[in-house]
Amino acid sequence: MKKNIPFLSLNNKKILITGAAGGLGLSLTKNLLELGAKVYMVDIRETGSDGNLKKLLSSYPRKISYHNCDITNDKEVNNLYKEIKKAGGLNVMINNAAYTGSSNIEGWNTNFENQKKEGWQKSFELNLFSVFNLVQKFSPDLKKTKQGNIINVGSIYGSSAPDWKMYKNTSIYNPAAYGASKAGLINLTKWLAVTLSPDIRVNSVSPGGIKRNQPLKFIKRYESKTPLGRMAKEEDISGVIAFLASDLSAYMTGQDIRVDGGFGLE
Ligand SMILES: NC(=O)c1ccc[n+]([C@@H]2O[C@H](COP(=O)([O-])OP(=O)(O)OC[C@H]3O[C@@H](n4cnc5c(N)ncnc54)[C@H](O)[C@@H]3O)[C@@H](O)[C@H]2O)c1
Repeated sequence: MKKNIPFLSLNNKKILITGAAGGLGLSLTKNLLELGAKVYMVDIRETGSDGNLKKLLSSYPRKISYHNCDITNDKEVNNLYKEIKKAGGLNVMINNAAYTGSSNIEGWNTNFENQKKEGWQKSFELNLFSVFNLVQKFSPDLKKTKQGNIINVGSIYGSSAPDWKMYKNTSIYNPAAYGASKAGLINLTKWLAVTLSPDIRVNSVSPGGIKRNQPLKFIKRYESKTPLGRMAKEEDISGVIAFLASDLSAYMTGQDIRVDGGFGLE
């Protein structure tokens, strides 16, 4: 009997993912590997004692490599470029690393009055400039493949303002610079799409809040604002990223896809 060929296949895709050891990065890496991709995981974290990461690395020894790199450091990015080239190059780049609402930077995860320039500078450097820098470095090689593909991970806060009622009396904040950096990333996506076409496609995915260990009060308020009645799971986001990484989306560029369960529609 003829074997079924999966409709969505990432066979022959060589995908670089930044922030690959984080919450979304790890789950995304696993899903893309399952769909046939080869993955270059890039993260500032050492593999160290992270059991989940070690398990993943040992499960796909020939399909995965781990590259310890601070993507805001030019020297490390140059080394990364050489490592990837030596390992066979890439045709898809997923820019996922970012300071998020819960990251630990001075003057960041706090109220309006206490947010500081350091939070703005660091988040713009990582969430926005590092993407430009990586794309500038890798795009000549991506162009040569004639089907280069870049996917940026934005956020709903790149196009929507926070509803402060959800945050009242919780330990969670939503720094101004986070949404501003993600709005910049969504715009950079369009700029890169017209600049790098027709050889490279560039799109972004903007997730809604992923359920982690947020206070119950916050989760309940979030769910009540979400028509699909729940916060996101990592797999909700990776499915859409897999679609963008595949040839099923071959005629899409410059788009931002919100994956948010309809958050804030009503
Ligand atoms: N978690 C959410 O609810 C949510 C919602 C919307 C959008 N997003 C976006 O999804 C993406 C992933 O978020 P997450 O929640 O998995 O974050 P996370 O903090 O779990 O993971 C981020 C990863 O980036 C890595 N990183 C940080 N600085 C780096 C650097 N200089 N160089 C290389 N790697 C670096 C971290 O070590 C970490 O592993 C982010 O772009 C985030 O803005 C997340």
